[in-house]
Amino acid sequence: MIDPSIIERVKELRQTLHRHNYRYYVLDDPEISDAEYDRMMQELLKLEEDFSDLMSPDSPTLRVGAPTLDKFETIEHSIPMLSLENGFNDLDIMAFDRRIKRNLSIDSDIIYTAEPKLDGVAVELVYENGRLITASTRGDGFYGELITSNVRTIRSVPLRLHNEKEKRIPSLLEVRGEVFIGKEAFKSLNNERLDDNLPPFANPRNAAAGSLRQLDSKITAKRPLEIFVYGVGRITDLVLESHSDILYALQKLGFRINPHIRPKITVKEVIDCYRELSEQRDLLPYDIDGVVIKVDSLSLQQNLGATSRSPRWAIAYKFKAIQETTRVVGVEVQVGRTGTLTPVAQLVPVKIGGVTVSRATLHNEDEIKRKDIKIGDTVLVQRAGDVIPEVVKVIISKRTGEEKTFNMPLVCPVCHSSVVRSLNEAALRCINTSCTAQVKERIKHFASKGAFDIDGLGEKLIEQLVDKDLLFSYADIFQLKEEPLKDLERMGSKSAGNIVRAIEDSKRITLNRFIYALGIRHVGEHVAGILAGSFESLEKLIRTTPDELVVIDGVGPVVAESIVEFFKKNENRKLVDDMIANGVQIFRDNAHKQGTLAGKIFVLTGTLATLTRSEVKRAVEEAGGKVTGSVSRKTDYLVVGVSPGSKLKRAEELGVDIVDEETLMKLMIEDR
Ligand code: IVH
Repeated sequence: MIDPSIIERVKELRQTLHRHNYRYYVLDDPEISDAEYDRMMQELLKLEEDFSDLMSPDSPTLRVGAPTLDKFETIEHSIPMLSLENGFNDLDIMAFDRRIKRNLSIDSDIIYTAEPKLDGVAVELVYENGRLITASTRGDGFYGELITSNVRTIRSVPLRLHNEKEKRIPSLLEVRGEVFIGKEAFKSLNNERLDDNLPPFANPRNAAAGSLRQLDSKITAKRPLEIFVYGVGRITDLVLESHSDILYALQKLGFRINPHIRPKITVKEVIDCYRELSEQRDLLPYDIDGVVIKVDSLSLQQNLGATSRSPRWAIAYKFKAIQETTRVVGVEVQVGRTGTLTPVAQLVPVKIGGVTVSRATLHNEDEIKRKDIKIGDTVLVQRAGDVIPEVVKVIISKRTGEEKTFNMPLVCPVCHSSVVRSLNEAALRCINTSCTAQVKERIKHFASKGAFDIDGLGEKLIEQLVDKDLLFSYADIFQLKEEPLKDLERMGSKSAGNIVRAIEDSKRITLNRFIYALGIRHVGEHVAGILAGSFESLEKLIRTTPDELVVIDGVGPVVAESIVEFFKKNENRKLVDDMIANGVQIFRDNAHKQGTLAGKIFVLTGTLATLTRSEVKRAVEEAGGKVTGSVSRKTDYLVVGVSPGSKLKRAEELGVDIVDEETLMKLMIEDR
């Protein structure tokens, strides 16, 4: 017999965790700190472990994963998950509208609902009496794979439906939606994979698909998956008249629907909506590849019916392709900051989604072999957002026999030292740490945004400084004077003065940025953050051992060895000493500090009158806040200067507080 107070506590914890999960992941409006959430989760995990009879299929503890499977079971969809017809221009959409009117014998305007077409993985979620019972992939449309444990880990998927007092919960509800990974989260995930020596995912959709197909749901639980729902299969108890009613009913039940849905519009408005979304596409935090247009009335949908492939009442108006074909005219080999040799294809320039692409990464020797890419080949090239363009595949049918095989060089193309390929690694590396290519890349990394963030010290300038023997290592940056700078190409006293000032301003730096700036192999921004959180000071990190490092969550043996190796080298320890001697001051991140700016997220737009962007960033960080690049629901303040960009409109739409420089100053003073 379990003590009733324990049963009560488990119930209470579950309810509270469901509520906070919903506030955080669906409403994007958290009420409690992550630490508080974690404490309650730990308490519930412990109680469920001690009293296994209390386990339930909708417990929030299932969000961290369930026991590993041997294989996925197959499940039949009660109503097939059809696909969509595609349209590529306005004429296709007008023809679709005419066809519908003809089929229905209607003359007046048809009312549609338009939604962004998410580029992710389709899933079906089945709820019985308000609880998530199964989740499956679309599969071939008739049969999918059962991925319930994996889907339970997605925080924006409700494990139990919301039960507003006046509403009845449907006894059966099949919900369909798209699981995806956002653009920023995709970048961090890939950076973490590179840090861990794992191959990166080609795009967010592949990352989402790969994450959903894990037999071990504990791995899925660590992936930043999200969901937007867009329709239903079978549904009982609810009487609804239109597709848009379905969406809003789903929202009330606790599901996340896309904020850009345009309900009840005419075909003309649908086309305007397509234009608007095409323009906003790059600014959205997730990939969309078109707009789905659906007849809104459910009775009209029923009259129209479906073909074997797709419903007659819907069409996907696709955006312009982000893939194009072009020809490889050569291969150039670049040397990175850790000496890695990366082959880059030189292409006949081609416009992809409005941007001219003339180079694409080939990643490494193995990738060239795997994709069988030769000089002269016609290839399919892909560009997505600000990810480096890459060659997807060779169009073999276009081969003429004149194509030439490319072989990686046996020596470094810049310094001509030997190159090596370590065991278990795909990349060749130049072993000469003084190789000018490596020096340049290390300094570029050091001055970059996530590191010392030195305004004005860009790639071209760094290359000139290294080529003219004015800079040998990043520690030398802090001794740069106006004198040699102002005589360089495209410089002058004013720019030189600005750079010297930016260097001076950059000297106060948080420990995580400093660690990241060092450019240690496998230590990206994410790992640097973990290290800064685990070590009190740089001195402690310098003296650490592999044993001490591997017990840190998020630091594996490869990363640990790389860190220890780095600090073992006298030259690296000297670099750190030189920087400190040159005035660099390292302090611990103040993110946990209590104060007005603690935990507050800022975004900047336009030119500020008195402060530079780096100055604002530094000041905000010192006061415990954070500056990010784009406006989202999580943004607390947008700081606006002269000629603000599109961020202002987005902030207004989202109701983010908009402040000028003066107000920002006041906020900081209040913080003191
Ligand atoms: S409706 C019968 N709405 O597109 C209607 N699909 O090519 C079928 N998709 O498999 C789907 N966003 O994975 C619909 N707002 C949306 C969508 C959407 C993405 C995907 C879905 C589907 C594919 C159809």
